Parts: sequence; C-alpha cells; structure tokens
Amino acid sequence: MYSERVMDHFMNPRNMGEIPDADGVGEVGNPACGDIMRITLRIEEDRIVDAKFKTFGCAAAIASSSMATELIRGKTVDEALAVTNRAVAEALEGLPPQKLHCSVLAEEGIHKAIDDYRSRHGAREANGG
Ligand code: FES
Repeated sequence: MYSERVMDHFMNPRNMGEIPDADGVGEVGNPACGDIMRITLRIEEDRIVDAKFKTFGCAAAIASSSMATELIRGKTVDEALAVTNRAVAEALEGLPPQKLHCSVLAEEGIHKAIDDYRSRHGAREANGG
C-alpha cells in the first residue's frame, strides 16, 4: 500500500535526530492516533541550514518527517512555510488517503518550529540583539 519512496524513507530516514541548541523547535501530536513529531531547525540569516526530526509514530509519519526535512533544507523560512503536506505526500510518490493526515503532522511541525524561531528572533531583536 506504500510507495517505494515511502518505504525508502521509512527504512532509511534522512535527518533523524535532534539539533542541539536549535534555533527553532516544533513539537506536534496527533490526538487521534497519539503519534508525536519533534522538528528542530538551524536557521542562519533566515535560511534553514539544517533540519532534523524525531518521530514517534507510524511509517507514514516517519517517511513524511524524513521527506519534509529534506524538502526544507536550504530553503528560506518563507519558502519552507509554503511547503504543504500535499507537497510532502507528492514527493513521497503519494500516500494512501487514510494516511494523508500523517503528512499534516510534518507540515504542522515545521510551522511550529518556524513560529518558535520567529518568536525568539523577535524577542532577541527587542532586547537589542
Ligand atoms: Fe498517526 Fe500516522 S497514524 S501519524
């Protein structure tokens, strides 16, 4: 039921782990299934230079986090915000309809990590750098 690309990212996940002292951290959960995803970002001059994930979840959630971190690396923060769960699912050569919500977790995790970065960045600027 899963594409080869999904199986590949599930079996050999890219960017798994956690960035120490990350510039943005996003943790999201899906109350329906109880799965949890944590995204950490390294951001330099508004560009995502590194992204890692830890996912306690199903195969589709792990493959989605792996693909999502691949897709946003090297992108600006605004470009990363435009990466939708549909884009993640398409990059994975599709997800079964009942598993599309798992890719939503990746989109939410990225948004939350960027929100975290922006709130800290704003706070730093307000404090004079
Ligand atoms: Fe929970 Fe996939 S079933 S994220």
